[in-house]
Amino acid sequence: MSMINQSFAYDAQGDTSDAEQEKQEAHILKPNRKVKPTDILSLNHAIWLGDAEAFLKGLPREPIFDLIVTSPPYNIGKEYETRTALDIYMEWQERIINELIPRLKKGGSLCWQVGNFVNDNQIFPLDIEFAPIFKQHKLQLRNRIIWQFGHGLHTSKRFSGRYEVVLWYTKTETKKDNYTFNLDSVRVPAKYPGKKHFKGPNIGMLSGNPLGKNPEDVWGIPNVKSNHIEKTEHPCQFPVGLIERLILSLSNPGDLVFDPFSGVASAGVAAALHKRRFIGCEIKADYAKTGMKRIQDALDGKALYRPHDKPLYDHTQSNLSKLPPEFETGEAQ
Ligand SMILES: C[S@@+](CC[C@H](N)C(=O)[O-])C[C@H]1O[C@@H](n2cnc3c(N)ncnc32)[C@H](O)[C@@H]1O
Repeated sequence: MSMINQSFAYDAQGDTSDAEQEKQEAHILKPNRKVKPTDILSLNHAIWLGDAEAFLKGLPREPIFDLIVTSPPYNIGKEYETRTALDIYMEWQERIINELIPRLKKGGSLCWQVGNFVNDNQIFPLDIEFAPIFKQHKLQLRNRIIWQFGHGLHTSKRFSGRYEVVLWYTKTETKKDNYTFNLDSVRVPAKYPGKKHFKGPNIGMLSGNPLGKNPEDVWGIPNVKSNHIEKTEHPCQFPVGLIERLILSLSNPGDLVFDPFSGVASAGVAAALHKRRFIGCEIKADYAKTGMKRIQDALDGKALYRPHDKPLYDHTQSNLSKLPPEFETGEAQ
């Protein structure tokens, strides 16, 4: 029997009955002799506490996921990874991707969010390294989204890095193949909503979309630093707003979202907020536990998060933005 034909608490509209609503619970599954990867497929919101590659190998090799969205370890020596040579890291990631693609549904999307590998002050943008792997799998690239943010290390031998990239691919082959793209659900306020057509049959009429404009492919969303409302113990969590925009536009209510490197489950929070099902995989127990709690908070309507369309804070309003007198007189130099 196919393991993916199980019944879930969500229907196609993402609605749940009252009784099912009560059952909306986040789970952690820890592998052992009795608990197998396939057991997770009957749950709506769950994290597998273990290695992503082993987990994927334990699932049937058939389309399961509607959307795969992740930010893998970047091999930069964070506390959750052992830094290796770039080619060894890429071989590992390729093995994971080889397991992922057969399990992505036709018309589904894959979003790979990466920054730079840095060696000897030389940068290796990881999206460039990953692109040939996805090309080999014949996925179609829809956008290379620039996620731009305001805070990070100040470098002295090159310009400080302030963006990362999301590669958005669809599992489609030709232009006739359908894929989910709910643009209206992620529109943002237009710059000039009062703008009118100045010629043609609609002259004098408003030219914009009343729902707002396409958010375009450069997204300014604050990264999660110490005073961010979403900050947990994880050193590199991505903002819920970033995933929220991807989940809303690239999946439908009731769809199954998978994150093979789920950390503290920011993707799981966005999925729960918008009635998508979620499976994550995380090797560190503390992160998995925090992730489960965050998903449960989202299911209970208690999630702390910054929505994708919240305007950026205007830093010029802060007292800290005022030029100190010492700088003006040159005394501080
Ligand atoms: C960049 S972080 C992801 C953060 C996540 N997007 C969030 O918002 O919390 C990568 C995560 O992958 C986890 N990880 C590393 N190796 C893994 C493996 N072999 N299997 C599963 N997870 C792994 C790390 O512990 C880390 O939490």
